[in-house]
Amino acid sequence: MIQRHTNALDPNVIAPLLEELRRECLERRFSVAPNPCVGAAIISGDRVVAKGFHEHWGGAHAEVNAMAAARDAGVDPSEWDAIIVTLEPCSSEGKTPACLEAILEAGIPRVGIGAIDPDPRHAGAAIRLMEEAGLEVRVLEERGAFEEENAAFCAWLEPERARATRPWILAKWAQTRTGQLSPPSDVGDGRWISCSESLSEVQSLRSEVDAILTGVGTVRADDPRLTVRVPSERSAPLRVVLDSYLRTPVTAKLFDAPEEGESAGEVVILTLAGADGARWRALEDRGARVIGLRADEQDSVSLVEAHRWLWDQGLRRVLLEGGPRILQAHFELELVDQIRVYTGDIFGGEGVSLGQTLASLSLQGRMDRECGQDAVLEGFLL
Ligand SMILES: NC(=O)c1ccc[n+]([C@@H]2O[C@H](COP(=O)([O-])OP(=O)(O)OC[C@H]3O[C@@H](n4cnc5c(N)ncnc54)[C@H](OP(=O)(O)O)[C@@H]3O)[C@@H](O)[C@H]2O)c1
Repeated sequence: MIQRHTNALDPNVIAPLLEELRRECLERRFSVAPNPCVGAAIISGDRVVAKGFHEHWGGAHAEVNAMAAARDAGVDPSEWDAIIVTLEPCSSEGKTPACLEAILEAGIPRVGIGAIDPDPRHAGAAIRLMEEAGLEVRVLEERGAFEEENAAFCAWLEPERARATRPWILAKWAQTRTGQLSPPSDVGDGRWISCSESLSEVQSLRSEVDAILTGVGTVRADDPRLTVRVPSERSAPLRVVLDSYLRTPVTAKLFDAPEEGESAGEVVILTLAGADGARWRALEDRGARVIGLRADEQDSVSLVEAHRWLWDQGLRRVLLEGGPRILQAHFELELVDQIRVYTGDIFGGEGVSLGQTLASLSLQGRMDRECGQDAVLEGFLL
């Protein structure tokens, strides 16, 4: 391989570039959690020819996106002098192939790294392998800045959280300005609080989780399908209903075949062990997988057990799309890691308000933004 002279790994060159990448990464922190937000850049000569980011959970990593962008820009891999990445590349295959392999295959001779992977299982592994393969590697140890900007990822790695054997829970709901999850009965068909832009955002969000979790109250009130209506390469998320007494109607739309352009995950009903056998069979006949779990002190399905079951299925990022009761129950047990709240332009509403609950949450990395006519609040509960 012809290696051209370059000062691509000069700290004076990479430090400002890393800072720029980290700033751009931050915008994506809620889309990737509990993964870290990572950015990468390809340098050719003294030019940054492409940048790439880890855009959403389960999606391609920053290094792979940066390389694809460089190819799209017409810069051949033989002209890539260095890749600069805010976090040590992954060295083992996860939801996507290892970035280390992609870097070696592309023949990039130099790698500049912002921070060593804080995960003790991987820390330093890729650096060692790249050096053994003859690459020039420079680490600008920026662990402090990285940890500050990736609080969710670092919290996810904490030994106590890792031992908790429960998925990352992202609670999402739409509320009126007064915090009710159901609008006043004279508003439209009484169903949608949020605008069409927010509804389509939620469709994308559904395609970026392993499961959607809801309560039987929502199934009975709204009869949702919980399908994914945007193109996605991932398999559709499992649709999980917490239903202690098997009150899910056999006629629920959850059991309908997906429409064209829709993808629908398996329906799982988490109920109490020993729930009514006839209803159990009837729901199984409709295609549901019914799982019996232990009760909590209120004789509802134990949420701790439910989460353990989800974890045991290998489900790691779960979207909680329930009504006020299931949401409150999760907040009370501190089972929520992240929230996304759409506040529509409607006053009043029906049912309890989540206003006080929301005000009492201590949010980290909070972001307020707009989506169409709605106000959106995102934050972590770490
Ligand atoms: N705006 C929004 O984002 C949004 C989203 C969803 C729903 N909603 C609205 O919310 C309303 C329904 O509210 P909801 O509170 O009845 O629905 P929900 O929270 O989805 O479901 C509540 C039901 O879940 C079951 N459940 C099972 N295990 C539980 C546990 N450990 N803790 C608590 N509940 C458990 C309970 O029934 P069992 O005891 O029988 O199991 C409970 O009645 C509807 O009007 C719907 O339109 C709004």
